[in-house]
Amino acid sequence: MDWKWMRLIGEARVVVVPDNIRMSAEIFDKKTTIDLRKKHIGPSCKIFFSDDPLKIVRAKGQYMYDEKGQRYLDCINNVAHVGHCHSDVVQAGAQQMQLLNTNSRFLHDKLVLYAQRLQAKLPDKLSVCYFVNSGSEANDLALRLAKQFRGHKDVITLENAYHGHVSSLIDISPYKFQQLSDAEQNPFVHVAPSPDVYRGKYRANHPDPASAYANDVKDIIDKVHEKGGKIAAFIAESLQSCGGQVIPPVGYFQQVAEHVRKAGGVFIADEVQVGFGRVGTHFWAFQLQGEDFVPDIVTMGKPIGNGHPMSCVVTTKEVAQAFMSSGMEYFNTFGGNPVSSAIGLAVLEVIEKEDLQGHALRVGRYLTNQLEKQKEKHPLIGDIRGCGLFVGVELVRDRLKLTPATAEAQEVIYKLKEQHILLSADGPHRNVLKFKPPMCFAKEDIDLVVEKIDHILTELEKALGMKLANILNGGN
Ligand SMILES: Cc1ncc(COP(=O)(O)O)c(C=O)c1O
Repeated sequence: MDWKWMRLIGEARVVVVPDNIRMSAEIFDKKTTIDLRKKHIGPSCKIFFSDDPLKIVRAKGQYMYDEKGQRYLDCINNVAHVGHCHSDVVQAGAQQMQLLNTNSRFLHDKLVLYAQRLQAKLPDKLSVCYFVNSGSEANDLALRLAKQFRGHKDVITLENAYHGHVSSLIDISPYKFQQLSDAEQNPFVHVAPSPDVYRGKYRANHPDPASAYANDVKDIIDKVHEKGGKIAAFIAESLQSCGGQVIPPVGYFQQVAEHVRKAGGVFIADEVQVGFGRVGTHFWAFQLQGEDFVPDIVTMGKPIGNGHPMSCVVTTKEVAQAFMSSGMEYFNTFGGNPVSSAIGLAVLEVIEKEDLQGHALRVGRYLTNQLEKQKEKHPLIGDIRGCGLFVGVELVRDRLKLTPATAEAQEVIYKLKEQHILLSADGPHRNVLKFKPPMCFAKEDIDLVVEKIDHILTELEKALGMKLANILNGGN
Protein backbone atom coordinates (compact mmCIF):
# COMPACT_ATOMS: atom_id res chain seq x y z
CA MET A 1 0.00 0.00 0.00
CA ASP A 2 1.34 3.40 -1.01
CA TRP A 3 1.79 5.68 2.06
CA LYS A 4 0.32 8.63 0.12
CA TRP A 5 -2.99 6.76 0.52
CA MET A 6 -2.70 6.52 4.28
CA ARG A 7 -3.05 8.73 7.26
CA LEU A 8 -2.98 7.95 10.95
CA ILE A 9 -6.11 8.33 13.06
CA GLY A 10 -5.14 7.46 16.62
CA GLU A 11 -3.47 4.07 16.35
CA ALA A 12 -5.26 3.07 13.17
CA ARG A 13 -3.76 3.53 9.74
CA VAL A 14 -6.60 4.70 7.57
CA VAL A 15 -6.63 4.45 3.80
CA VAL A 16 -7.60 7.76 2.21
CA VAL A 17 -9.99 6.98 -0.57
CA PRO A 18 -11.03 9.42 -3.28
CA ASP A 19 -14.81 9.75 -3.61
CA ASN A 20 -14.95 8.11 -7.03
CA ILE A 21 -13.67 4.78 -5.72
CA ARG A 22 -14.95 4.95 -2.17
CA MET A 23 -17.59 2.27 -2.73
CA SER A 24 -15.10 -0.40 -3.74
CA ALA A 25 -12.07 0.35 -1.63
CA GLU A 26 -10.95 -0.29 1.91
CA ILE A 27 -11.26 1.96 4.95
CA PHE A 28 -8.28 0.50 6.84
CA ASP A 29 -5.14 -1.13 5.58
CA LYS A 30 -5.26 -4.93 5.94
CA LYS A 31 -3.10 -5.14 9.07
CA THR A 32 -5.32 -2.65 10.90
CA THR A 33 -8.42 -4.59 9.86
CA ILE A 34 -6.88 -7.77 11.27
CA ASP A 35 -5.88 -6.01 14.52
CA LEU A 36 -9.31 -4.45 15.00
CA ARG A 37 -11.01 -7.75 14.26
CA LYS A 38 -8.86 -9.51 16.88
CA LYS A 39 -9.69 -6.80 19.39
CA HIS A 40 -13.42 -6.40 18.84
CA ILE A 41 -14.86 -9.51 17.19
CA GLY A 42 -15.56 -12.64 19.23
CA PRO A 43 -12.66 -15.08 18.87
CA SER A 44 -14.94 -18.03 18.05
CA CYS A 45 -16.06 -16.23 14.87
CA LYS A 46 -13.56 -18.04 12.67
CA ILE A 47 -12.17 -16.59 9.49
CA PHE A 48 -11.26 -18.42 6.27
CA PHE A 49 -7.51 -18.96 5.83
CA SER A 50 -6.64 -17.59 9.27
CA ASP A 51 -2.86 -17.60 8.56
CA ASP A 52 -3.35 -15.19 5.70
CA PRO A 53 -6.99 -14.09 5.65
CA LEU A 54 -8.59 -12.55 2.63
CA LYS A 55 -9.90 -9.02 2.63
CA ILE A 56 -12.68 -8.90 0.09
CA VAL A 57 -13.90 -5.42 -0.77
CA ARG A 58 -16.33 -6.05 -3.62
CA ALA A 59 -17.87 -8.81 -5.68
CA LYS A 60 -19.80 -9.33 -8.88
CA GLY A 61 -21.33 -12.49 -10.35
CA GLN A 62 -19.09 -15.42 -9.39
CA TYR A 63 -16.05 -13.27 -8.67
CA MET A 64 -14.80 -11.58 -5.49
CA TYR A 65 -12.09 -8.91 -5.40
CA ASP A 66 -9.59 -8.18 -2.65
CA GLU A 67 -8.28 -4.78 -1.60
CA LYS A 68 -5.63 -4.88 -4.30
CA GLY A 69 -8.14 -5.61 -7.03
CA GLN A 70 -7.10 -9.27 -7.28
CA ARG A 71 -9.97 -11.38 -8.59
CA TYR A 72 -10.98 -14.65 -6.88
CA LEU A 73 -13.22 -17.28 -8.41
CA ASP A 74 -15.94 -18.06 -5.88
CA CYS A 75 -16.87 -21.76 -5.78
CA ILE A 76 -18.46 -21.68 -2.32
CA ASN A 77 -20.85 -18.78 -1.80
CA ASN A 78 -24.26 -20.30 -2.34
CA VAL A 79 -25.77 -17.31 -0.53
CA ALA A 80 -24.94 -15.08 -3.52
CA HIS A 81 -27.27 -17.40 -5.42
CA VAL A 82 -28.01 -15.38 -8.56
CA GLY A 83 -24.53 -13.81 -8.48
CA HIS A 84 -22.90 -11.39 -6.08
CA CYS A 85 -24.52 -7.94 -6.12
CA HIS A 86 -26.91 -8.77 -8.96
CA SER A 87 -28.17 -5.40 -10.19
CA ASP A 88 -31.87 -6.42 -10.27
CA VAL A 89 -31.71 -7.50 -6.63
CA VAL A 90 -29.72 -4.47 -5.51
CA GLN A 91 -32.15 -2.13 -7.28
CA ALA A 92 -35.23 -3.86 -5.90
CA GLY A 93 -33.89 -3.48 -2.36
CA ALA A 94 -32.73 0.12 -2.80
CA GLN A 95 -35.99 1.26 -4.42
CA GLN A 96 -38.12 -0.29 -1.69
CA MET A 97 -35.84 1.13 1.01
CA GLN A 98 -36.41 4.61 -0.39
CA LEU A 99 -40.15 4.12 -0.23
CA LEU A 100 -40.93 2.21 2.95
CA ASN A 101 -39.62 -0.37 5.34
CA THR A 102 -41.74 -1.49 8.25
CA ASN A 103 -43.05 -4.62 9.93
CA SER A 104 -45.71 -7.04 8.79
CA ARG A 105 -48.45 -5.68 11.07
CA PHE A 106 -49.42 -3.37 8.20
CA LEU A 107 -50.90 -4.65 4.97
CA HIS A 108 -48.35 -4.67 2.18
CA ASP A 109 -48.76 -6.01 -1.35
CA LYS A 110 -45.17 -7.16 -1.73
CA LEU A 111 -45.48 -9.48 1.27
CA VAL A 112 -48.54 -11.28 -0.07
CA LEU A 113 -47.31 -11.24 -3.67
CA TYR A 114 -44.05 -12.79 -2.54
CA ALA A 115 -45.82 -15.45 -0.45
CA GLN A 116 -47.98 -16.23 -3.48
CA ARG A 117 -44.95 -16.51 -5.85
CA LEU A 118 -42.99 -18.66 -3.41
CA GLN A 119 -45.98 -20.92 -2.87
CA ALA A 120 -46.31 -21.39 -6.63
CA LYS A 121 -42.89 -23.07 -6.54
CA LEU A 122 -44.06 -25.59 -3.92
CA PRO A 123 -46.54 -28.47 -3.82
CA ASP A 124 -50.09 -27.12 -3.16
CA LYS A 125 -50.23 -28.61 0.32
CA LEU A 126 -47.42 -26.30 1.49
CA SER A 127 -49.33 -23.04 1.44
CA VAL A 128 -48.68 -21.10 4.65
CA CYS A 129 -45.55 -18.94 5.05
CA TYR A 130 -43.83 -17.44 8.07
CA PHE A 131 -41.12 -15.00 7.06
CA VAL A 132 -38.12 -14.75 9.37
CA ASN A 133 -34.50 -13.55 9.11
CA SER A 134 -31.99 -16.40 9.08
CA GLY A 135 -31.77 -20.11 8.54
CA SER A 136 -31.48 -20.61 12.30
CA GLU A 137 -34.61 -18.62 12.98
CA ALA A 138 -36.46 -20.65 10.34
CA ASN A 139 -35.43 -23.99 11.84
CA ASP A 140 -36.15 -22.86 15.38
CA LEU A 141 -39.65 -21.83 14.34
CA ALA A 142 -40.07 -25.13 12.45
CA LEU A 143 -39.33 -27.00 15.69
CA ARG A 144 -41.88 -24.89 17.56
CA LEU A 145 -44.51 -25.62 14.90
CA ALA A 146 -43.70 -29.33 15.02
CA LYS A 147 -43.86 -29.53 18.81
CA GLN A 148 -47.10 -27.56 18.97
CA PHE A 149 -48.74 -29.73 16.27
CA ARG A 150 -49.55 -32.66 18.56
CA GLY A 151 -47.83 -31.63 21.76
CA HIS A 152 -44.99 -34.13 21.18
CA LYS A 153 -41.40 -33.40 22.18
CA ASP A 154 -38.92 -35.87 20.69
CA VAL A 155 -36.95 -34.94 17.60
CA ILE A 156 -34.94 -37.18 15.28
CA THR A 157 -31.99 -35.65 13.49
CA LEU A 158 -29.20 -37.06 11.32
CA GLU A 159 -25.58 -37.75 12.12
CA ASN A 160 -23.32 -34.83 11.07
CA ALA A 161 -26.33 -32.55 10.55
CA TYR A 162 -26.10 -28.80 10.98
CA HIS A 163 -29.30 -26.80 11.35
CA GLY A 164 -28.19 -23.52 12.91
CA HIS A 165 -26.54 -21.68 15.74
CA VAL A 166 -29.31 -21.03 18.30
CA SER A 167 -29.56 -23.26 21.39
CA SER A 168 -32.51 -25.31 20.14
CA LEU A 169 -30.57 -26.11 16.95
CA ILE A 170 -27.18 -26.83 18.48
CA ASP A 171 -29.13 -29.55 20.32
CA ILE A 172 -30.13 -31.14 16.99
CA SER A 173 -26.82 -30.46 15.19
CA PRO A 174 -24.34 -33.30 15.82
CA TYR A 175 -21.93 -31.43 13.50
CA LYS A 176 -21.64 -28.91 16.34
CA PHE A 177 -22.44 -30.65 19.62
CA GLN A 178 -20.04 -33.48 18.86
CA GLN A 179 -17.19 -30.96 18.88
CA LEU A 180 -17.64 -30.62 22.65
CA SER A 181 -15.90 -33.32 24.64
CA ASP A 182 -18.32 -32.94 27.57
CA ALA A 183 -21.43 -32.53 25.38
CA GLU A 184 -24.60 -33.68 27.07
CA GLN A 185 -27.08 -34.72 24.44
CA ASN A 186 -30.58 -33.38 24.96
CA PRO A 187 -32.64 -36.44 26.05
CA PHE A 188 -35.42 -35.49 23.60
CA VAL A 189 -33.01 -35.58 20.62
CA HIS A 190 -32.19 -38.81 18.80
CA VAL A 191 -29.55 -39.18 16.11
CA ALA A 192 -30.16 -41.45 13.10
CA PRO A 193 -27.38 -42.60 10.76
CA SER A 194 -26.55 -40.26 7.90
CA PRO A 195 -27.94 -41.82 4.70
CA ASP A 196 -24.50 -41.72 3.09
CA VAL A 197 -24.14 -44.52 0.55
CA TYR A 198 -20.41 -43.92 0.11
CA ARG A 199 -19.07 -43.99 3.68
CA GLY A 200 -22.16 -44.67 5.80
CA LYS A 201 -23.63 -47.73 7.47
CA TYR A 202 -25.34 -49.00 4.28
CA ARG A 203 -23.43 -48.35 1.08
CA ALA A 204 -24.03 -48.44 -2.65
CA ASN A 205 -23.57 -52.24 -2.69
CA HIS A 206 -26.48 -52.67 -0.25
CA PRO A 207 -29.59 -54.04 -2.03
CA ASP A 208 -31.89 -51.35 -0.58
CA PRO A 209 -30.07 -48.60 1.36
CA ALA A 210 -33.16 -46.33 1.40
CA SER A 211 -35.22 -48.89 3.35
CA ALA A 212 -32.29 -49.87 5.56
CA TYR A 213 -31.65 -46.26 6.63
CA ALA A 214 -35.41 -45.61 7.03
CA ASN A 215 -35.73 -48.75 9.19
CA ASP A 216 -33.08 -47.32 11.50
CA VAL A 217 -35.32 -44.28 11.97
CA LYS A 218 -38.24 -46.63 12.67
CA ASP A 219 -36.12 -48.41 15.32
CA ILE A 220 -35.41 -45.06 16.99
CA ILE A 221 -39.15 -44.27 17.02
CA ASP A 222 -39.89 -47.65 18.62
CA LYS A 223 -37.29 -47.05 21.31
CA VAL A 224 -38.68 -43.57 22.03
CA HIS A 225 -42.16 -45.11 22.41
CA GLU A 226 -40.83 -47.81 24.72
CA LYS A 227 -39.57 -45.08 27.01
CA GLY A 228 -42.89 -43.24 26.89
CA GLY A 229 -41.73 -40.47 24.55
CA LYS A 230 -43.60 -39.12 21.50
CA ILE A 231 -42.11 -38.03 18.18
CA ALA A 232 -42.63 -34.39 17.23
CA ALA A 233 -40.41 -34.30 14.15
CA PHE A 234 -37.78 -35.77 11.93
CA ILE A 235 -35.56 -33.03 10.51
CA ALA A 236 -33.05 -33.39 7.69
CA GLU A 237 -31.35 -31.25 5.12
CA SER A 238 -32.68 -32.40 1.77
CA LEU A 239 -28.99 -32.94 0.90
CA GLN A 240 -26.50 -32.78 3.77
CA SER A 241 -23.98 -30.03 3.14
CA CYS A 242 -21.71 -29.57 6.19
CA GLY A 243 -22.16 -33.32 6.68
CA GLY A 244 -20.13 -33.88 3.49
CA GLN A 245 -22.37 -33.23 0.45
CA VAL A 246 -24.44 -36.35 1.11
CA ILE A 247 -27.20 -37.33 -1.31
CA PRO A 248 -29.74 -39.65 0.36
CA PRO A 249 -30.92 -42.66 -1.64
CA VAL A 250 -34.23 -42.12 -3.46
CA GLY A 251 -37.21 -43.34 -1.46
CA TYR A 252 -35.57 -42.72 1.92
CA PHE A 253 -37.59 -39.60 2.75
CA GLN A 254 -40.91 -41.22 1.75
CA GLN A 255 -40.31 -44.16 4.07
CA VAL A 256 -39.06 -41.99 6.92
CA ALA A 257 -42.09 -39.69 6.53
CA GLU A 258 -44.40 -42.69 6.72
CA HIS A 259 -42.84 -43.92 9.97
CA VAL A 260 -42.72 -40.43 11.49
CA ARG A 261 -46.30 -39.52 10.54
CA LYS A 262 -47.58 -42.82 11.90
CA ALA A 263 -45.97 -41.78 15.20
CA GLY A 264 -47.77 -38.41 15.05
CA GLY A 265 -44.69 -36.42 14.03
CA VAL A 266 -43.92 -34.19 11.06
CA PHE A 267 -41.17 -34.22 8.44
CA ILE A 268 -39.09 -31.02 8.29
CA ALA A 269 -36.99 -30.53 5.15
CA ASP A 270 -34.18 -28.03 5.69
CA GLU A 271 -33.59 -26.36 2.30
CA VAL A 272 -31.46 -23.56 3.76
CA GLN A 273 -28.43 -24.58 1.70
CA VAL A 274 -29.89 -26.38 -1.27
CA GLY A 275 -33.16 -24.78 -2.33
CA PHE A 276 -34.03 -22.38 -5.17
CA GLY A 277 -33.02 -24.43 -8.20
CA ARG A 278 -29.47 -25.32 -7.18
CA VAL A 279 -29.96 -29.03 -7.84
CA GLY A 280 -30.89 -28.29 -11.46
CA THR A 281 -33.58 -30.89 -12.12
CA HIS A 282 -35.89 -29.43 -9.49
CA PHE A 283 -36.48 -26.18 -7.65
CA TRP A 284 -36.26 -27.90 -4.23
CA ALA A 285 -33.80 -30.61 -3.33
CA PHE A 286 -36.46 -32.66 -1.49
CA GLN A 287 -38.09 -33.15 -4.91
CA LEU A 288 -35.11 -35.32 -5.92
CA GLN A 289 -36.78 -38.03 -3.84
CA GLY A 290 -39.76 -38.14 -6.23
CA GLU A 291 -43.05 -36.37 -6.90
CA ASP A 292 -44.77 -38.50 -4.26
CA PHE A 293 -42.77 -36.91 -1.43
CA VAL A 294 -43.99 -33.72 0.24
CA PRO A 295 -42.57 -32.60 3.60
CA ASP A 296 -44.86 -31.10 6.27
CA ILE A 297 -42.55 -28.15 6.85
CA VAL A 298 -39.87 -26.66 4.60
CA THR A 299 -37.31 -24.16 5.85
CA MET A 300 -35.43 -21.78 3.54
CA GLY A 301 -32.59 -19.32 4.00
CA LYS A 302 -29.22 -18.33 2.52
CA PRO A 303 -29.98 -18.04 -1.26
CA ILE A 304 -33.52 -16.73 -0.67
CA GLY A 305 -32.30 -13.10 -0.41
CA ASN A 306 -29.02 -13.35 -2.36
CA GLY A 307 -27.16 -12.02 0.70
CA HIS A 308 -29.93 -9.99 2.29
CA PRO A 309 -30.75 -11.57 5.69
CA MET A 310 -34.14 -13.18 5.26
CA SER A 311 -35.63 -16.65 5.46
CA CYS A 312 -38.90 -18.51 5.48
CA VAL A 313 -40.81 -21.44 6.95
CA VAL A 314 -43.55 -22.91 4.78
CA THR A 315 -46.03 -25.43 6.12
CA THR A 316 -49.49 -26.90 5.75
CA LYS A 317 -52.75 -25.32 6.89
CA GLU A 318 -53.13 -28.02 9.58
CA VAL A 319 -49.75 -27.34 11.15
CA ALA A 320 -50.32 -23.56 11.01
CA GLN A 321 -53.76 -23.96 12.55
CA ALA A 322 -52.37 -26.00 15.43
CA PHE A 323 -49.76 -23.29 16.05
CA MET A 324 -52.53 -20.70 16.10
CA SER A 325 -54.57 -22.73 18.56
CA SER A 326 -51.88 -22.35 21.22
CA GLY A 327 -53.31 -18.85 21.65
CA MET A 328 -49.87 -17.25 21.45
CA GLU A 329 -49.41 -14.54 18.83
CA TYR A 330 -46.38 -14.84 16.54
CA PHE A 331 -44.63 -11.55 15.86
CA ASN A 332 -41.31 -10.96 14.16
CA THR A 333 -40.02 -7.39 13.85
CA PHE A 334 -38.13 -7.82 10.59
CA GLY A 335 -39.57 -10.97 9.03
CA GLY A 336 -41.45 -10.25 5.80
CA ASN A 337 -40.71 -6.54 5.77
CA PRO A 338 -41.29 -4.75 2.43
CA VAL A 339 -37.56 -4.54 1.62
CA SER A 340 -37.00 -8.26 2.22
CA SER A 341 -40.14 -9.08 0.24
CA ALA A 342 -38.97 -6.91 -2.68
CA ILE A 343 -35.57 -8.60 -2.63
CA GLY A 344 -37.10 -12.08 -2.39
CA LEU A 345 -39.32 -11.32 -5.37
CA ALA A 346 -36.35 -10.04 -7.39
CA VAL A 347 -34.37 -13.23 -6.63
CA LEU A 348 -37.23 -15.42 -7.88
CA GLU A 349 -37.55 -13.26 -10.99
CA VAL A 350 -33.83 -13.45 -11.80
CA ILE A 351 -33.81 -17.24 -11.36
CA GLU A 352 -36.58 -17.43 -13.95
CA LYS A 353 -35.41 -14.69 -16.31
CA GLU A 354 -31.88 -16.10 -16.52
CA ASP A 355 -32.99 -19.75 -16.38
CA LEU A 356 -30.52 -20.34 -13.56
CA GLN A 357 -32.07 -23.67 -12.63
CA GLY A 358 -31.53 -24.95 -16.19
CA HIS A 359 -28.06 -23.45 -16.17
CA ALA A 360 -27.25 -25.21 -12.87
CA LEU A 361 -28.31 -28.49 -14.46
CA ARG A 362 -26.17 -27.99 -17.57
CA VAL A 363 -22.99 -26.63 -16.00
CA GLY A 364 -23.42 -28.91 -12.97
CA ARG A 365 -23.39 -31.92 -15.31
CA TYR A 366 -20.32 -30.54 -17.02
CA LEU A 367 -18.62 -30.08 -13.65
CA THR A 368 -19.34 -33.64 -12.48
CA ASN A 369 -18.25 -35.05 -15.87
CA GLN A 370 -14.97 -33.16 -15.75
CA LEU A 371 -14.40 -34.28 -12.15
CA GLU A 372 -15.20 -37.89 -13.06
CA LYS A 373 -12.38 -37.71 -15.62
CA GLN A 374 -10.09 -36.59 -12.80
CA LYS A 375 -11.22 -39.54 -10.71
CA GLU A 376 -9.98 -41.87 -13.46
CA LYS A 377 -6.57 -40.24 -13.13
CA HIS A 378 -6.22 -39.50 -9.43
CA PRO A 379 -6.20 -42.18 -6.73
CA LEU A 380 -6.86 -39.49 -4.11
CA ILE A 381 -10.37 -38.99 -5.47
CA GLY A 382 -12.63 -41.55 -3.82
CA ASP A 383 -16.06 -40.28 -4.82
CA ILE A 384 -17.74 -37.61 -6.90
CA ARG A 385 -21.36 -36.90 -6.06
CA GLY A 386 -23.61 -34.08 -7.00
CA CYS A 387 -26.84 -32.67 -8.32
CA GLY A 388 -26.66 -29.50 -10.37
CA LEU A 389 -24.34 -27.00 -8.73
CA PHE A 390 -24.15 -28.90 -5.46
CA VAL A 391 -21.15 -31.20 -5.85
CA GLY A 392 -18.83 -33.03 -3.46
CA VAL A 393 -15.42 -34.55 -4.17
CA GLU A 394 -14.41 -36.91 -1.39
CA LEU A 395 -10.65 -37.37 -1.05
CA VAL A 396 -9.32 -40.63 0.38
CA ARG A 397 -5.88 -42.08 0.91
CA ASP A 398 -7.16 -45.54 0.19
CA ARG A 399 -10.15 -46.28 -2.00
CA LEU A 400 -10.84 -49.61 -0.29
CA LYS A 401 -10.50 -48.55 3.32
CA LEU A 402 -11.85 -45.05 2.56
CA THR A 403 -9.15 -43.51 4.78
CA PRO A 404 -10.03 -39.82 4.77
CA ALA A 405 -7.43 -37.62 3.05
CA THR A 406 -8.03 -34.71 5.41
CA ALA A 407 -4.64 -33.00 5.21
CA GLU A 408 -4.64 -33.41 1.43
CA ALA A 409 -8.07 -31.77 1.18
CA GLN A 410 -6.77 -28.82 3.21
CA GLU A 411 -3.73 -28.65 0.96
CA VAL A 412 -5.96 -28.48 -2.12
CA ILE A 413 -7.96 -25.64 -0.58
CA TYR A 414 -4.86 -23.65 0.38
CA LYS A 415 -3.13 -24.21 -2.97
CA LEU A 416 -6.27 -23.14 -4.81
CA LYS A 417 -6.45 -20.00 -2.72
CA GLU A 418 -2.88 -19.16 -3.76
CA GLN A 419 -4.20 -19.39 -7.31
CA HIS A 420 -7.15 -17.17 -6.49
CA ILE A 421 -9.84 -19.83 -6.36
CA LEU A 422 -12.05 -20.20 -3.28
CA LEU A 423 -13.21 -23.69 -2.38
CA SER A 424 -13.85 -25.34 1.00
CA ALA A 425 -13.59 -28.80 2.53
CA ASP A 426 -16.17 -30.20 4.93
CA GLY A 427 -17.81 -33.37 6.20
CA PRO A 428 -17.08 -35.23 9.45
CA HIS A 429 -13.49 -35.78 8.31
CA ARG A 430 -13.12 -32.43 6.52
CA ASN A 431 -12.07 -34.34 3.41
CA VAL A 432 -14.92 -33.47 1.04
CA LEU A 433 -14.29 -30.62 -1.39
CA LYS A 434 -17.54 -28.68 -1.51
CA PHE A 435 -18.72 -26.96 -4.67
CA LYS A 436 -21.75 -24.68 -4.21
CA PRO A 437 -20.94 -21.59 -6.28
CA PRO A 438 -23.18 -18.72 -7.31
CA MET A 439 -25.52 -20.11 -9.96
CA CYS A 440 -24.01 -18.00 -12.75
CA PHE A 441 -20.86 -20.18 -12.54
CA ALA A 442 -19.64 -20.75 -16.11
CA LYS A 443 -18.02 -23.57 -18.06
CA GLU A 444 -14.79 -21.58 -18.26
CA ASP A 445 -14.76 -21.34 -14.46
CA ILE A 446 -15.11 -25.11 -14.28
CA ASP A 447 -12.27 -25.65 -16.75
CA LEU A 448 -10.05 -23.40 -14.68
CA VAL A 449 -10.76 -24.95 -11.28
CA VAL A 450 -10.61 -28.54 -12.56
CA GLU A 451 -7.29 -27.86 -14.29
CA LYS A 452 -5.86 -26.44 -11.05
CA ILE A 453 -7.18 -29.35 -8.97
CA ASP A 454 -5.65 -31.78 -11.48
CA HIS A 455 -2.29 -30.10 -11.08
CA ILE A 456 -2.44 -29.97 -7.26
CA LEU A 457 -3.51 -33.62 -6.97
CA THR A 458 -0.73 -34.70 -9.36
CA GLU A 459 1.85 -33.00 -7.13
CA LEU A 460 0.33 -34.40 -3.93
CA GLU A 461 0.17 -37.94 -5.28
CA LYS A 462 3.77 -37.68 -6.46
CA ALA A 463 4.82 -36.64 -2.96
CA LEU A 464 2.77 -39.46 -1.39
CA GLY A 465 3.98 -42.04 -3.92
CA MET A 466 0.37 -42.85 -4.85
CA LYS A 467 -0.36 -44.49 -8.19
CA LEU A 468 -3.78 -45.40 -9.53
CA ALA A 469 -2.51 -48.78 -10.85
CA ASN A 470 -1.55 -49.84 -7.29
CA ILE A 471 -4.98 -48.96 -6.02
CA LEU A 472 -6.84 -50.76 -8.77
CA ASN A 473 -4.71 -53.82 -7.96
CA GLY A 474 -5.93 -53.68 -4.38
CA GLY A 475 -3.01 -51.98 -2.63
CA ASN A 476 -2.23 -48.38 -1.86
C1 LIG B 1 -28.53 -26.59 6.46
C2 LIG B 1 -28.46 -25.35 7.27
N1 LIG B 1 -29.51 -25.00 8.01
C3 LIG B 1 -29.51 -23.88 8.76
C4 LIG B 1 -28.40 -23.05 8.80
C5 LIG B 1 -28.41 -21.81 9.65
O1 LIG B 1 -28.55 -20.70 8.86
P1 LIG B 1 -28.08 -19.24 9.40
O2 LIG B 1 -26.60 -19.28 9.49
O3 LIG B 1 -28.62 -18.32 8.34
O4 LIG B 1 -28.72 -19.02 10.70
C6 LIG B 1 -27.29 -23.37 8.03
C7 LIG B 1 -26.10 -22.48 8.03
O5 LIG B 1 -25.03 -22.79 7.58
C8 LIG B 1 -27.30 -24.56 7.26
O6 LIG B 1 -26.26 -24.92 6.54
